[in-house]
Amino acid sequence: MAKILVTGGLGFIGSHTVVELVNAGYEPIIIDNLSNSDIKILDQLTKIIGYKPKFHKLDLSDEPAVKKLAEMEPDVSGIIHFAAYKAVGESVHKPLKYYRNNFFSMLNLLDAYYGKALNFVFSSSCTVYGQPDELPVTESAQVKEAQSPYGNTKQIAEEVLEDMVASGTNYKVISLRYFNPVGAHETALIGELPIGVPQNLVPFITQTAIGKREKLTVFGDDYDTADGSCVRDYIHVVDLAKAHVAALRLMEKPDFTGYDVFNIGTGQGTTVLQIIHAFENATGEKLNYIIGPRREGDVEKVWGDVTKSAHKLGWRAQLGIDEMMQSAWEWEKYIAENPLS
Ligand code: UD1
Repeated sequence: MAKILVTGGLGFIGSHTVVELVNAGYEPIIIDNLSNSDIKILDQLTKIIGYKPKFHKLDLSDEPAVKKLAEMEPDVSGIIHFAAYKAVGESVHKPLKYYRNNFFSMLNLLDAYYGKALNFVFSSSCTVYGQPDELPVTESAQVKEAQSPYGNTKQIAEEVLEDMVASGTNYKVISLRYFNPVGAHETALIGELPIGVPQNLVPFITQTAIGKREKLTVFGDDYDTADGSCVRDYIHVVDLAKAHVAALRLMEKPDFTGYDVFNIGTGQGTTVLQIIHAFENATGEKLNYIIGPRREGDVEKVWGDVTKSAHKLGWRAQLGIDEMMQSAWEWEKYIAENPLS
């Protein structure tokens, strides 16, 4: 079985990807420093996959520790690199924390395994497009000036990887530009675990519905969109996880060389108000919400062109908004009854 390092493997997207790796016949090795995840997710994963996956608690920004990891786990065929800080607002106030962690982690990892023939998947984001001039946005669209240090770490990391590949390394690299990942595993045993008040829409919706939050504020209804609220391309986290398996499969082909980048979304735009109504319809729960002012830094509308992913990666999202809302809600109820920490 091919071994794949999954950094940030106890996080939201990482944990779902661990499950899909096992389903596809890989052996995931999880690396996580637990800074934004819970060790109990390891037990939850064990329940889903039927065995306890190998796990190293490790901070990737610690260079000697990463060197030691590469000595302990020399025979991996791929790395899926999720581990990074991701709070946009915090990155504006603590840029050095973001640059240090996100860059050092990736560079230490690349250095430690340098010279080996490895397939590397990088977690990028549609944030690199800012507000695109044309929609749906394709991978060849111009990358806009980053709106936050977090966004900048994604842009620069993509450039670092492309430069590294161009220099003639043995690494093959794919960057996946995620749109908005939501939902949870069908078992409701894993899902998103926001620390404190959620910044993202769907965890805020589910926490409001369950009574943890009093009400949801829709950030603006005066945008140039169908109902005035912002448009995003929401993608089920299980579909997103499967895209990582597809990326590994593509790089395993001998004719794949170098570097490539793919949009990972559904190709459909949905407004905030449509999401709210979809949640209400899918779950039967009534949501307490108000319309508030716009959130600073929000783009008006973005959704992805997924033609390249379908053709080259052989991947397409299968699950719709209803499944995203239902599974997110099942997870919220599960976690209310079975608090992890
Ligand atoms: C945000 C980040 C993006 C990052 C992504 C990771 C910003 C500006 N962008 O994307 O860089 O890659 O998270 O998941 O922070 N909304 C409400 N009320 C809420 C929360 C959100 O109306 O309480 C709206 C937002 O205005 C937006 C939509 O819901 O239109 C989605 O918001 P969110 O889940 O925060 O994702 P993004 O802003 O798209």
